[in-house]
Amino acid sequence: MKKHSIAIIGSGYVGLVTGACFAKLGHAVTCHDIDKRKIRNLQKGIAPFFEPGLTSLIKETVKKGNLRFSSDLSEALYGVSVIFITVGTPSNKDGSVDLTYVKAAVKDIASHMRGGEILVSKSTVPIGTSLLIRRIVSKRFSGKFSVVSNPEFLQEAVAIKAFLEPDRIIMGYEDLVTPKVKKTIKDLYAKVKAPIIETDNRTAELIKYAANVFLTSQISFINSIARLCEEIGADVELVAKALKADKRIGQRAFINAGIGYGGLCFPKDIRALIRISERIGYKFKFLDVVEEVNKEQRAVFVEKMKRLVPKIRGKKIALLGLSFKPKTDDMREAPSIDIVKRLQKLGAKIHATDPVAITNAKQIFGKSITYHKNPYSAIKGAYVVGIITEWPQYKKLNLQKVKRLLRLPNIVDGRNIYEPDKMRRAGFNYLAMGRGYIRDIKVK
Ligand code: UDX
Repeated sequence: MKKHSIAIIGSGYVGLVTGACFAKLGHAVTCHDIDKRKIRNLQKGIAPFFEPGLTSLIKETVKKGNLRFSSDLSEALYGVSVIFITVGTPSNKDGSVDLTYVKAAVKDIASHMRGGEILVSKSTVPIGTSLLIRRIVSKRFSGKFSVVSNPEFLQEAVAIKAFLEPDRIIMGYEDLVTPKVKKTIKDLYAKVKAPIIETDNRTAELIKYAANVFLTSQISFINSIARLCEEIGADVELVAKALKADKRIGQRAFINAGIGYGGLCFPKDIRALIRISERIGYKFKFLDVVEEVNKEQRAVFVEKMKRLVPKIRGKKIALLGLSFKPKTDDMREAPSIDIVKRLQKLGAKIHATDPVAITNAKQIFGKSITYHKNPYSAIKGAYVVGIITEWPQYKKLNLQKVKRLLRLPNIVDGRNIYEPDKMRRAGFNYLAMGRGYIRDIKVK
């Protein structure tokens, strides 16, 4: 494998994981960001977010001399052959993608180019962005360069594994791409064992959306089945187990019912694809429904809380977990945000706990809720506990202690982490998502 010099422009989630992993694979990587403070912290070994294994990987690769950080673009791009663009692509108000940061980064990059560089777009971007990158650079730089689309499929909390052991690598090329460029890009991933799918830019850009949106539709599908289960007295967990046993669906299918998807990618990408389709004159109705079902799940969860505590106003409610999924401190579009808002509207006094997301949650909820490091202190005196995030530690709670601490033995499990029979035998009024006939349950 040839050692390549790589610049990563944008040291956010995707940028840092990509940079650290390429450094681990033996390349010489410089991660750049315009945020000087972020770069200073990274130089001290402090990552701006929590991702299992990332801090140690950064330290290890910096020590080896394969990874460095810089807020000086000319320094970051000096002698570099491959430039990854990993800046943020937030949503506009209408759900379309805001390309401001991509455009600004590409303009800056163009002013430092010397010729022969490969610009790789890794952020999730609308179809046609690679062409836009070419146009922006061409206006400012007359030398040779190439644009490749190489979308990321990083799953937070397991991002390093997702990078180093991906299911597939997508490479989208321009029409006139040279074999040398293809070889360089493949070389970067030489040590990664995964099928490579080579295609054109547009198809690569669409693959990223199609993949994420497919997964969201699986989630909304199972959540719809969960609603049916509640009406007919069936158990969605067993339905999902049976579906996963079908090899065409598979064990890793996204069919775990609950309060729906959140996070950085899914909500944003589905909205973006709705807008992208609209712009080209295709009404992607299917996606509207996927979104709607996802939103409904939060309301369904709050309804269950109200079922157990009909007069919720002024009462203490405990929420376990705030992040959008376990093992991350990421609060972006977390279902907890919507649930907290709904419960606050009903006048509930919310006490919440989370192993790592409290700092980020404070920026969203401020002092409107009470935060607890210890789940038992959040639970103490509450009228109902809601499971929001399936952190492993919540599965191991001492349930007798939980029951003793609660004012009423009420649990609404938004992630189906417990067994309904066991919980009911233990004396809880236990409601989960899509597990059995809830109308029969007698509330004490
Ligand atoms: C996702 C994609 O998996 C990844 O490939 C892409 O690049 C970025 O978006 P991530 O957002 O980190 O990754 O989280 P993921 O583990 O996919 O979960 C997303 C959301 O869906 C979470 O809120 C999770 O709780 C929810 N989910 C997932 C379900 O409700 N049910 C499932 O079966 C799976």
